[in-house]
Amino acid sequence: MCGIVAYVGPKDAAPILLEGLQRLEYRGYDSAGVVVSNKGFKVRKVKGRVADLAQAVPARFKGTLGIGHTRWATHGVPSDVNAHPHLSADERVAVVHNGIIENATELRAKLEADGVVFASETDSEVLSHLIARTVEETSSLEEAVRKALKSVVGTYGIAVLDSERPGEVVVARNGSPIVLGIGEKEMFAASDVAALVRYTRQVVHLEDGELAVLKADGFHTFASGGLETAKEPLTVDVEAGHYDTGGFEHYLLKEISEQPETVARTLRGRLDERFHIAHLGGLNMDARETRSFRRVKIIGCGSAYYSGQIGAQLIEELARIPADAEPASEFRYRNPVVDPDTLYVAISQSGETYDTLAAVQELKRKGGRVIGIVNAVGSAIAREVDGGIYLHAGPEVSVASTKAFTSTAVAFALLALHFGRVHDLSPADGRRIVDGLAKLPDQIEEILKQGDRIRDFARKYAGRPSIMFVGRVRGYPVAREGAQKLKEISYIHAEAYPASELKHGPLALIGPEMPTVAIVPDDELLDKNLTTLGEIRARGGNVLMIGHREPDAKLADDAIVVPKNEIELDPILLTIPLQLLAYHAAVALERDVDKPRNLAKSVTVE
Ligand code: AGP
Repeated sequence: MCGIVAYVGPKDAAPILLEGLQRLEYRGYDSAGVVVSNKGFKVRKVKGRVADLAQAVPARFKGTLGIGHTRWATHGVPSDVNAHPHLSADERVAVVHNGIIENATELRAKLEADGVVFASETDSEVLSHLIARTVEETSSLEEAVRKALKSVVGTYGIAVLDSERPGEVVVARNGSPIVLGIGEKEMFAASDVAALVRYTRQVVHLEDGELAVLKADGFHTFASGGLETAKEPLTVDVEAGHYDTGGFEHYLLKEISEQPETVARTLRGRLDERFHIAHLGGLNMDARETRSFRRVKIIGCGSAYYSGQIGAQLIEELARIPADAEPASEFRYRNPVVDPDTLYVAISQSGETYDTLAAVQELKRKGGRVIGIVNAVGSAIAREVDGGIYLHAGPEVSVASTKAFTSTAVAFALLALHFGRVHDLSPADGRRIVDGLAKLPDQIEEILKQGDRIRDFARKYAGRPSIMFVGRVRGYPVAREGAQKLKEISYIHAEAYPASELKHGPLALIGPEMPTVAIVPDDELLDKNLTTLGEIRARGGNVLMIGHREPDAKLADDAIVVPKNEIELDPILLTIPLQLLAYHAAVALERDVDKPRNLAKSVTVE
């Protein structure tokens, strides 16, 4: 989704802004623009890629203060004119905006009635015109921005320049992230640390309602009422190299291949082999409180929700606490009953997904106890929850989630072990899970070695218009995630069903033109799953089996056999071949693997 970069300091702003925008490309966008300030504004905006914008920026585009933006269209088509920055009619004020101004139509009508002529169709342009009015009446840009924002309803992360104040940028946030980067006699701001890590690791996250004034020699932050706030800079543990493909053809393949290491990082320091427990200090919860919860409710969106389904099963199986997962995007709109005996768990790789954040805020408003399983350290959801588990999987750049998915499932296994051991999970079962978790990185490595075989299956199946994914109980969320990966990056239609439901309708779809990927773990449901394979093949459907036992492979047309772990942990391993299958299908179909059409990495709007 949209991205913001801002710079003020001694250097030429344009190259820094363009480099920052390039680092934000992974989030998804359709147009880009920059403005630098130097005795008035110099502006370039293009529909297309940051590389196109860089081409359009002339050598004489000089100025040591500037802001840049990548836009993901919501109001108005992708075009040069609708791209940000937006300037006021007198060209005094320039604004870039992430988020949605909900009362834009009403504000626009009022401004137009006063004679303002709009250049674009965007909701964001109202901001430049509003600020241009208040800047005349106030003594500082900060005050002008604060005053203008009073009439705005909606979400925003913004960066604002006033051509008559050539040494400062004002940024503000409400529901859309803004992070400040502190350099040596220079300051940066961005919507994502990815744009900053080349220049600084010292960052400050703005809270909702906060505003900051950035000058080359430092920054000041203010609450919405105008009182100055004190902020402690954080050092981010991210390197610029995390945002490179590292020699892989795509970020997605890099991130799939990183999973032995990322799973090991999620586990690091958390397994106790003496008491067969998990150490999860970040939960901020003592044993008495941990025992007090009667239910666990898990919320997240998309793949985060599917990993939550794996998590719910782990918690029920290991801790015997009723648990279920629900899309955060649905949960927040149905006025949920918030129960004091329920622990709520919000999952998010980015920590920015608006629906998940809004659900957390709704829960907290109603007094719910919410923890987070989050990858992005210091992100909005991480700061909003009462405690939680960081994944430590490193930045995930490709739009399709892979390493964050497996690390989330691992984090749930740790949580379920922790809950189980304060309830009735025996030390022997605790040991079984601790040992099983410790084996995962090597077993993932084993699966990755089958990459070439999986590529051959992907090529075979990539020509089919539609693929069915089935699994039972533990295998069902794996099937859902497999279908999700395939459809989002290869655009092949895919459906996931519980294998037990096939006979209740979708079996009608099965035939020679519709192959099935079946998740067949070696568990108590193996026989039932093998019967399902027979039913599909009897109707002329091809089956690609993902399972554990070589002999079962004969019952399918094709099979990928993966190493076996404890039955509760097997879903984590069974997911890996499906990621590779989707990846190779997308490559075979020449899709834009890392930036699939219509999708964004962080969905920061409703
Ligand atoms: C995953 O492949 C998807 N791109 C998407 O479903 C994603 O998992 C979802 O938007 C949630 O993102 P989050 O984990 O950053 O909150």
